[in-house]
Amino acid sequence: MQPYLLAPSILSADLARLGEEVTHVLEAGADVVHFDVMDNHYVPNLTFGPMICQALRNYGVTAPIDVHLMVSPVDELIEQFADAGASMISFHPEASQHVDRSLQLIRDKGCKAGLVLNPATPLQVLDYVWDRLDFILLMSVNPGFGGQAFIPATLAKIEAVKQQIEQRGLNIRLAVDGGVKQDNIVEIAKAGADMFIAGSAIFGQGDYNEVVGQFRQKLAT
Ligand code: DX5
Ligand code: ZN
Repeated sequence: MQPYLLAPSILSADLARLGEEVTHVLEAGADVVHFDVMDNHYVPNLTFGPMICQALRNYGVTAPIDVHLMVSPVDELIEQFADAGASMISFHPEASQHVDRSLQLIRDKGCKAGLVLNPATPLQVLDYVWDRLDFILLMSVNPGFGGQAFIPATLAKIEAVKQQIEQRGLNIRLAVDGGVKQDNIVEIAKAGADMFIAGSAIFGQGDYNEVVGQFRQKLAT
C-alpha cells in the first residue's frame, strides 16, 4: 500500500476548466481525484453526476477517481459511477437501507468500497462490515460544502478507527475529508490517517506544483 495518498477535491476546482484543473493537480503530484456527489436531498447542495466522471475519463484522466456519494438512495448511482470510470466509491450508511448490500455492490462492480462517517456518526456502524471495506472515510466537517473548518474531535476518532484496523489486522485505508490544510495535515497523519482529501486548500491556491509540493513535504517530515 502506497503510504500516503493526497486526493484533491474537485468541489473547489474551476469547474469551467475541470479537465485542465484535474490534469494540473495530478501532474503536480496528487494521487487520486476526489469527486463529491451531492444530491440536494441527503445534503443541501447539488454537484455532479456520472456524466462528468465519464467526461474526465474521456479527457484522458487515468488516475484513480474516488467517488464520494452524498446521495440517498445509493445503489443506482453506485452502478452508474462504476460504469462511468470510478475506482473507489463510498457512501454514508444513513443513506442506504441495506449497507451490506451496497458495499457488496461496489465490489461486484470492480471498485474499492468505502463507508463515510459523519462527525457525529458512531464507529459501531462499522461493526459487521469490516470485511467488506477497502477504505473508511472520516468526515472532519459536516458534509455538503467545501471551505469549512476541521472539527478537532475528529483526531480522536481517527486514532480509534486506526486502532481497530490494526487490531483486526486489516488492509483498510483511512481517509479524512474536510478542512485538511498544510498546517494540520501532520497532526491528522500522526493520528493514523493515510489518505488526505483537500479541496479549498489546493484548488485556486496559485501554483499547484508549489501547493501540492507543500503538502508532500509536510507528509515527508
Ligand atoms: C464536503 C466534501 C469535501 C470537501 C472538502 O462535503 O465531502 O470533499 O470538498 O473541502 P475542503 O477541503 O475545502 O474542506
Ligand atoms: Zn468529499
